Order: sequence, then C-alpha cells, then structure tokens
Amino acid sequence: MLNEKVAVVTGASRGIGKAIAKEFAAQGATVIINYNGSAEKAEAVKKEIEEAGGKAEAMQCNVADFDACEAFFKKVIEEFGRVDILVNNAGITKDGLMMRMSEEDFSSVIDVNLKGTFHCIRFASRQMMKQRYGRIINMSSVVGVAGNAGQVNYAASKAGVIGMTKSAAKELASRGITVNAIAPGFIETDMTSVLSDKVKEATLGQIPLGRLGQGRDIAAAAAFFASDAAGYITGQVLHVDGGMVM
Ligand code: NAI
Repeated sequence: MLNEKVAVVTGASRGIGKAIAKEFAAQGATVIINYNGSAEKAEAVKKEIEEAGGKAEAMQCNVADFDACEAFFKKVIEEFGRVDILVNNAGITKDGLMMRMSEEDFSSVIDVNLKGTFHCIRFASRQMMKQRYGRIINMSSVVGVAGNAGQVNYAASKAGVIGMTKSAAKELASRGITVNAIAPGFIETDMTSVLSDKVKEATLGQIPLGRLGQGRDIAAAAAFFASDAAGYITGQVLHVDGGMVM
C-alpha cells in the first residue's frame, strides 16, 4: 500500500499515466496528476479519483521546459511537503522514416521523452535526497531495447531513458532512492489508436501471450516498483509486453 505517500505522475490526464494515477490513489497515495495542455481531462481524472475515495490534484507543467519543471516541483513541495514517488510517464511520438525525418521531429521527441525525464528527476530528487527516501519510475519502451523502423527519434529517447535510469540509480542509491524503468510493449491507448489495424494485427502476432496490453498492466508494475516490497531493486528495466521482446 502507498498510504501517506505523495506521488507525481507526469502526463497523467489519459492512457497509461491515468491508469497509474488511479492505481496509486486506490492504494492510498496522494497523486499529483501532471498535464501539459489537457486541463479538462486532468480535472476529470482528479474527479474520478476523488469519487472513488482517493486524494488527487491536477497540476500543469510542460516537462520539456527546465524552468517550468523547477517551478512545478517547488509548488508540489510547498503544497504537499514532500515527493515520495515520481513516475516519468509523459511521452510523445513523431514517427517517420529517418531519411525523411525533420530535425524538429527528432528534437521534440528527445525534448519531451528524454530531457523531460531528466528535468523531473533533477528537481524531484533534490527533495527525495533530503527525505532520504524516493521511488523514481521511468517509462521506457521495448522499442528502446529492440529498435523499430520509423521510430529512430522515439527509440533513441527510450534507450536514453534506460541509460539515465541506470546512472541515476547509481547516483541516488546511497540516499535511499531507487530508480527503475518499465518497458511496455503494445498498450492500447490514444498513442497507439492511430496505428492501422494491419500494424496492430502484425504486432499481435509477435506477442506470445496473445493480447495487446492495457494501462492496468503497466499500472501494476509501477505500483510494485513504488512499493516497500521493491526496496532492494534499483537500476532495472522491467518489460511488460506479453513476452514481445525477451
Ligand atoms: P498517451 O499519448 O495516451 O499519453 C501521454 C501523455 O503525456 C498525454 O497525457 C500527454 O498530454 C502527456 N504529455 C505529452 N507531452 C507532454 C509534456 N511536454 N509535458 C507533460 N505531459 C505531456 O500515451 P500512452 O500510451 O499513455 O504512453 C504513456 C507513456 O508510455 C509514454 O512515455 C509512452 O512513450 C510510453 N509507452 C507507451 C506504449 C504504448 O503502447 N502505448 C508502449 C511503450 C511505451
């Protein structure tokens, strides 16, 4: 259980982030639902959590903006006094073949997925070090491990997240902070709803467990990493992908 814990989940207005926010709140944590542009959706997640008896707050911040992240965590600490759990979930895709990819599409994916993760760790860990306690969970992807045609930007960002996870785990371990990553396979969310049925069917054929993943599959793994039971695990990458990449 996560009673008395304060958790920040980035990009939590929908999809995997929303599933994680709901699971953490159900386990007793106070959840800060971070969003960038979708205030209404974030407020709806907050309402859903509160109606189920949980505690949540929606707070805006573009994770790609270093200064905004500093101000965001300052506000979180002013209002809630601590940050126990950080889930770096916010992420975007700008897919395309490398030969035709613009510099902007490459950079924007790195800025949100990789630099955004750095920014949030940078400011949350300062507080976690004072507390001598913290759980950081970064959202990577099986694509960051195995690569994928049409996703050089995304794969680079998610592979970078793995390297960052391991380095941060080594830097922060002595202060009681664990840093782990989750590598989801194909999860049914708005991000993947844009893919064609042909792509979905082909992907399904590569999943030994024979089904696409759901947000709750990832939320369960995140809740484990956030729990006291995972206190001796750091610098690891947990694949939650139905066996897609072994
Ligand atoms: P999604 O697109 O449904 O949700 C992503 C969330 O991040 C959205 O709420 C979006 O508003 C937010 N966001 C985007 N840019 C932001 C920014 N600059 N600042 C703050 N928030 C921002 O995607 P989904 O599927 O829920 O993905 C969540 C995470 O899991 C992402 O990091 C994604 O790369 C990763 N992932 C997803 C997989 C899938 O199959 N759906 C597979 C592997 C990894």
